[in-house]
Amino acid sequence: MFRSHTCGELRKSDVSKEVILAGWVQTVRKFGAITFIDLRDRYGITQLVFNEDLNPLLDQNPLGREFVLQATGFVIERSNKNLTIPTGEIEMDVRSFKILNKSAVPPFTIQDDTDGGDDLRMKYRYLDLRRNAVKKNLELRYSVNRSARNYLHEQGFMDIETPFLIKSTPEGARDFVVPSRMNGGQFYALPQSPQTFKQLLMVSGYDRYYQIVKCFRDEDLRADRQPEFTQIDCEMSFVEQEDILNMFEKLIKRIFKDVKNIDYTDAVERTTWEDAMWTFGNDKPDIRFGMKICTLKKPISVYLNKHDHAALINEAGFPVFDGAETVLAVAVPGGAAFTRKQLDELTEWVKRPQIGMKGLAYIRYNEDGSLKSSIDKFYNEDRLKLIASAVEAKQGDIILVLAGAEERTRKAMSELRLEMGEQLGLRKKDEFKLLWVLDFPLFEYAEEENRWVARHHPFTSPKPSQIQTMIENDPKISDAANYLSHPYAQIQANAYDMVLNGNEIGGGSIRIFQRALQEKMFEALGMTQEEALHKFGFLLGAFEYGAPPHGGIAFGFDRLCSILGGSESIRDFIAFPKNNSGRDVMLDAPSTIDDSQLKELSIQLQKSN
Ligand code: AMO
Repeated sequence: MFRSHTCGELRKSDVSKEVILAGWVQTVRKFGAITFIDLRDRYGITQLVFNEDLNPLLDQNPLGREFVLQATGFVIERSNKNLTIPTGEIEMDVRSFKILNKSAVPPFTIQDDTDGGDDLRMKYRYLDLRRNAVKKNLELRYSVNRSARNYLHEQGFMDIETPFLIKSTPEGARDFVVPSRMNGGQFYALPQSPQTFKQLLMVSGYDRYYQIVKCFRDEDLRADRQPEFTQIDCEMSFVEQEDILNMFEKLIKRIFKDVKNIDYTDAVERTTWEDAMWTFGNDKPDIRFGMKICTLKKPISVYLNKHDHAALINEAGFPVFDGAETVLAVAVPGGAAFTRKQLDELTEWVKRPQIGMKGLAYIRYNEDGSLKSSIDKFYNEDRLKLIASAVEAKQGDIILVLAGAEERTRKAMSELRLEMGEQLGLRKKDEFKLLWVLDFPLFEYAEEENRWVARHHPFTSPKPSQIQTMIENDPKISDAANYLSHPYAQIQANAYDMVLNGNEIGGGSIRIFQRALQEKMFEALGMTQEEALHKFGFLLGAFEYGAPPHGGIAFGFDRLCSILGGSESIRDFIAFPKNNSGRDVMLDAPSTIDDSQLKELSIQLQKSN
């Protein structure tokens, strides 16, 4: 027997038992003739005591960090208890031991607070994975996985695998491609998602499908993006949007319960895309705190056309506001107390290239009810009061104002709001707020190509009431400057995103399931009939054979784990992640391949200068 117990298992009730443990040497401490060793495995740490009589053996077989050790001995009660660990009341009085394998000196300490930098830890990821902090993340990931599987299985979903060597599935990123040896000059694409396959499974009658599956996207990487990531991918037949929202908010609530023991009993809030953009400046708002954005001035052509506000800021002789397309404001609670220095820092913050604003105006709404602003010269106190009331500012708040081009200003204000939420401690890691964002526009205008692109993907259905608009109108954009006046700009999608604490954790839609409408969609996206057939003939063909109405959703599994685990970076929740340049520094991939291999694949590389 290699071991009778794990290193996390023994308690006071085991005292006087003879046991065998096996694990890794975390620390070796010598006190005179006695040696203490912390032996670690996946389950915990147990202290081993080597008494004087074992010294000759220890001298012959010196132990170092990360040696793999097997020890036999008796469980004894510790005189000096360590109540911070579950095994801290006992230790093992070692009678014999065996070194199962030696270890080179590890390049960093394998403890909670390691001295290893990011690159080093990634290079030796197999050692990093021994650390408790990383292990906990993988455990959390596994419990999210189990919880999702249990729920979906109980609901009658079937896990069906779909292929990785496929043809392009458009999800808005570039494809990773794989050359085919047997079909020289031809390439597979790795799936950006199993989207078309899950739809085909609906045509085949598997009316509740799921898969926890790898997806591959060649896109610019960020903390919440990896080139290969995992989705909880789901599809259902004979459903409307409401059925999907119901089914999958219960999935997330179940995960909250199973993984975090959180009873999320509140109804999941809902917002339309337009309201989200208007109120929070982005389509994945963090609703853990208020600080809603107020539009003081908007361009005539703005797409967000439902809302209106008094033109409080127009024509006051202040060129910055008079000349701006949009003026947005937000009231920061308690901000009237901000110092000059704090305001200067905030101004610098909005001027950073990532935010890209020219400056920041402010209005202090003092505790005594008076108003003092950086724009006093142009706006008297009555005007400022009107602004304060439009922004719903309270005495003691500060109103921050940004002006500029519509899209950039809205984005900047959204970032500023999040930054203020962060600075004021309103974005608490242990508070979870879900939100459905609904009624997205079906199309987005791609300026460079002067054409429409699908906001979600080309298989998303328009709202039933707008199908006619789509069919009856020519998608061509004759007047690029006024693309918003094209009827297609107003078509809404039967699509939904789930947002958790300001992160898009899932997205899906009700699908098009009729060939004619799907063809119209491809036409709207600028594809010729031949192109559509070449790329998606299989799907159009399948729609000829009794495709049922269907819809689905996919959750970003890594993202969900990282938010539940309180981390910004999804890499912490992936056993073997890539770095920000898409490299696996442990494997040193991607790498070059042999000339013979290239030849076999009929590939000739271009010489770089
Ligand atoms: P979508 O493209 O919105 O939808 O992806 C679903 C979810 O996957 C996560 N995600 C990512 N996570 C890590 N790294 C990435 N590079 C990355 N890209 C996306 C996000 C996102 O919400 N086929 C559709 C789903 C459907 O319509 O059913 C799809 O893939 O959390």
